[in-house]
Amino acid sequence: MKSTQALAIVLLSLLLTWAGQVALGYFQVGKLEPVINEETNLREPPTPSGLAQTGARVFASEGCLECHSLSVRGPSGSPDLTRGWGERRSVSRDYLFREPALVGFSRIGPDLSNIGNRIKEPKDLMMHLYNPRNLKTTSTCPPHPWLFEMKLAGPKHESESLPIPRKDWKQVIPTYQAKALVAYLQSLNLNYSLPEAPLK
Ligand code: HEC
Repeated sequence: MKSTQALAIVLLSLLLTWAGQVALGYFQVGKLEPVINEETNLREPPTPSGLAQTGARVFASEGCLECHSLSVRGPSGSPDLTRGWGERRSVSRDYLFREPALVGFSRIGPDLSNIGNRIKEPKDLMMHLYNPRNLKTTSTCPPHPWLFEMKLAGPKHESESLPIPRKDWKQVIPTYQAKALVAYLQSLNLNYSLPEAPLK
């Protein structure tokens, strides 16, 4: 084979890889826009708060994605909807304002796309993070006590402290990371309709 032919084959394979990995992806999802809800006049998907965006980074750095996915599948080919993980499937548009866009595929734990709807109270989410067995005695989700500070109780009870009685009189206070992570978990809620994935 001549060297020009070899070069042409190399360039062609690079071009095909670029077309498949970059161009195709761009044409499929690169021009997605939010939709306007005609009743509320708000954009959907909604933009998560800055604290929730920080929380997404805590979620990523704590490795929650190793066990939890953030993408509901179905109805065909997956029982996610009947498992109660959501009312509709997740679509690309749901991730428009998610930075980083966490999708995940591991299902060691349940999918968390709608956890903001399943566990509504921020305090319950905090209790779960500190020790999941606070909410469910058999839970196998690992505890994350390093997201909390132990502070000796002063004369006043801090309003943020978790309702956990400790023998050493210390209060369990959420750190900034815990607050951001809980804001993120609360923002996970596919409770809006999209043209390609309507709520029933
Ligand atoms: C080693 C795997 C693993 C990791 C890592 C993990 N989880 Fe879990 N998680 C689970 C399992 C398994 C369950 C289901 C436990 C049960 O209910 O018995 C669960 C349950 C949960 C639930 C309750 C879900 C529901 O439907 O009620 C929440 C919320 C949750 N995890 C959040 C997190 C967050 C946030 C992180 C990261 C800080 C995390 N998990 C890291 C395995 C994991």
